[in-house]
Amino acid sequence: MALTRLAVTNLRNLAQVDIQPSPDVNLIYGANGSGKTSLLESVNLLSMGRSFRSHKIKPLITQNAQELTVFGRLFSKGSELPLGVSRSRSGESQFRVQGRGVESLAELTSYLPLQVINADAFTLLEGAPKVRRQFLDWLVFHVEHEFYGVWKSAQRSLKQRNTILRRGRIEGYELTPWDRELVAATERIQLMREACFTKLKAVFEPLVKEFVAIEGLTLSLYRGWEKDTDYQELLAQTLDRDIKQGFTGAGFHRADIRIKINAQSAADVLSRGQQKLLVCALKLAQGRLFEQITGRKCIYLVDDLPAELDEKHRHLLVKWLDKLQTQVFITGVEIEPLLVPWRELNRELKLFHVEHGAITSEDYLGEQ
Ligand SMILES: Nc1ncnc2c1ncn2[C@@H]1O[C@H](COP(=O)(O)OP(=O)(O)OP(=O)(O)O)[C@@H](O)[C@H]1O
Ligand SMILES: [Mg+2]
Repeated sequence: MALTRLAVTNLRNLAQVDIQPSPDVNLIYGANGSGKTSLLESVNLLSMGRSFRSHKIKPLITQNAQELTVFGRLFSKGSELPLGVSRSRSGESQFRVQGRGVESLAELTSYLPLQVINADAFTLLEGAPKVRRQFLDWLVFHVEHEFYGVWKSAQRSLKQRNTILRRGRIEGYELTPWDRELVAATERIQLMREACFTKLKAVFEPLVKEFVAIEGLTLSLYRGWEKDTDYQELLAQTLDRDIKQGFTGAGFHRADIRIKINAQSAADVLSRGQQKLLVCALKLAQGRLFEQITGRKCIYLVDDLPAELDEKHRHLLVKWLDKLQTQVFITGVEIEPLLVPWRELNRELKLFHVEHGAITSEDYLGEQ
């Protein structure tokens, strides 16, 4: 799977860009503020309808323009799939696949599976449980077709339950239907998450060892309530506390992947470089597992490759990206540090130079 065309209008400083990326390796270089991250954001928009930097749309739209659009041609399984996204200042959105409007962002997301490695990568370790939960759920969503429906049912019943809890005066029977729906959905979510997590761990553990030697590293799945406790019983036991708090304290919405080093949080122990490598290993493991299960590949966006990584580890990351044999977009200020690790590898490289929002494509002809 690869994007073979990417056309962007009015996204930050990219007024009008139309490029034909390599299905293999795209190296994007240019000065600070030239528009490199914005180009990666445009790919993210095609996949998720929004940026990886912010959920807000207005800051993305070029000043004085009313609307941004991104058009992409996705080459997948021998055929081409046109994808289009437009978002306007007044809040209108359009997501189109093969000229047809898609119903939901969830549907759009299923076409273009992406992995992003950028300066925010650290939040996977130091951020709130939500970040790690979303990381796991991304995988579950892409490999378990029923997950999204079940997750929506769990969200709905949780919301209804919380509304009743906040009201205070509760008749027991009012909660019953929502509790029933919540328990049923939660149990299914837990089973799907557990299955994906076990597989992820099996791919991740050998992979991380190649990147970085971290003694005592463990990954475990916290399901959102204590082990060996029946969720239905727990809801009954904690009802008084839930009423006092005005929300449901335990459940699928509290799940987390705990990443520890000898019982301490990895974010507290590791150096920045080690943290980045750990996150890279998690994202590579996810892409690899995704491919093993679905036969499809993720596209990788690596924003500012040299940041936090020394030369040896840049080589390692590139070696792994190469092993995945998937399309990658990698940015950096200087071209040399981007290019060096790929020189030995037999991939079709394209170079893009970004200057003040304009992009010129340069074919890489190897060593002259
Ligand atoms: N809504 C907007 N309208 C116009 N320009 C914008 C808008 N939002 C951001 N910019 C500008 O777009 C430019 C490109 O930003 P971007 O983050 O893509 O740069 P970059 O090449 O990734 O830089 P760096 O190397 O510093 O990461 C910046 O100069 C920024 O000020
Ligand atoms: Mg940038």
